[in-house]
Amino acid sequence: MSVNSQKLYEGKAKVLYTTDNPEILLADFKDDATAFNAQKKGRIIDKGRMNCSISSKLFQTLEARGIKTHFIDNPTPNQMRVRAVKILPLEVVVRNIAAGSLCRQTGLELGTLLAKPLVEFYYKNDNLGDPLLTRDRLHLLQLATPEQVDTITHLALQINELLKGFFQQCGITLVDFKLEFGVDSQQQILLADEISPDTCRLWDTSEADPNRRVMDKDRFRQDLGNVEDAYEEVLQRVLQAIEKQNAS
Ligand code: TMP
Ligand code: ASP
Repeated sequence: MSVNSQKLYEGKAKVLYTTDNPEILLADFKDDATAFNAQKKGRIIDKGRMNCSISSKLFQTLEARGIKTHFIDNPTPNQMRVRAVKILPLEVVVRNIAAGSLCRQTGLELGTLLAKPLVEFYYKNDNLGDPLLTRDRLHLLQLATPEQVDTITHLALQINELLKGFFQQCGITLVDFKLEFGVDSQQQILLADEISPDTCRLWDTSEADPNRRVMDKDRFRQDLGNVEDAYEEVLQRVLQAIEKQNAS
């Protein structure tokens, strides 16, 4: 870290630092784990390294397929240099299979395959508990312009197809995930934040047991145990899939 580096922001899972270049920030991934809007707190040993590595590989994979992300490189295994962006206060959730709050709020049975991917916008606001937004509320609060919402929806669906295909090669079913987007100094929309077992639901495709198949933060949320092993397994499968792609 450079001598001029200053802590810019500390979130639940990452600390953001300034660098010598105002266009570049350093994201330091923490081992801290929270759930249910930080009502549950804990630690997942080595999560910083695992999530930073998984996110970096996924961002690189997406970049290679034409998706613009904030990723630059990794100075250390749990740090990511990223392009400075203004994060839009939206949590963009894409769902392929019913789980989590979708089941709780609609009564859909866990594991129901959705006829088409569902894109949802939540207001990124911890004080309000990240509520689900309607398009009209999103525009009422001016959280993004209509053009930005269209662009983000299109990008989220494209990213879903790419990630679904990639995880399939890992023997992992992409149930749902959360994305965040930012706007750079040229008003370009970049995929930002992270894509990791903290922000995705990932099920081991070959495992039918509803507890044993879980390879993501639901292991922590629901006290299923073996959290670290699951994250490390996701990382190893991601690395193997990339190695296979590079070899072919
Ligand atoms: P949900 O079913 O709890 O709404 O979560 C949907 C997806 O979004 C799931 O993959 C976990 C992810 N997520 C986050 O990344 N951050 C959050 O704060 C929440 C609530 C969910
Ligand atoms: N990320 C949220 C929290 O920190 C919620 C979650 O992932 O369950 O509390």
